[in-house]
Amino acid sequence: MPGLHVSTTVNGDVTEFVCQPDETLLDVLRNRLGLTGAKEGCGTGDCGACSVTIDGQLVCSCLVLGAEAEGCKVGTIEGLADGDTLHPLQEQFIEHAALQCGICTPGFLVAAKALLDDNSNPSDEEIRFALAGNLCRCTGYDKIVRAVNAAAKDVRKQQARLQKQARLKKAAKKRR
Ligand code: FES
Ligand code: FES
Repeated sequence: MPGLHVSTTVNGDVTEFVCQPDETLLDVLRNRLGLTGAKEGCGTGDCGACSVTIDGQLVCSCLVLGAEAEGCKVGTIEGLADGDTLHPLQEQFIEHAALQCGICTPGFLVAAKALLDDNSNPSDEEIRFALAGNLCRCTGYDKIVRAVNAAAKDVRKQQARLQKQARLKKAAKKRR
């Protein structure tokens, strides 16, 4: 079968690939682009281990065709850290021992990031609701919820710092 040429953006990088019409985005990411963070747990949309974002929306990449990424912005776990600096979610997952075997962890982190991008002050209930599509057989979920809660606090602090910097910059400009 002739391949399809797809142009997309993955973690901010313009990316092109050729895939089969029936190839999932998960297979494209793992097998063609070498981004093996997203995992195949079930292949049927039930476990969330393959979670990525498309244009900011959380999706199971096992249920999306690679061809559907045409013209979209794909976000994967590989884009979470800023160079060597871990995202607060990654730091707090480590701090709270919110992972054991780790197979579910990339999916949880991507789903939690999508939540915090939308709501940086979620209640425990909102965190559990947002992560309901992600299954973990090891941790019992409480540690994960605590880690997301702690990361949300860090994210809010970061946001406040950036807002303060922006205000100071604006004030300095006015004085010139
Ligand atoms: S592998 Fe996609 S939801 Fe389980
Ligand atoms: S840490 Fe093992 S499945 Fe979640």
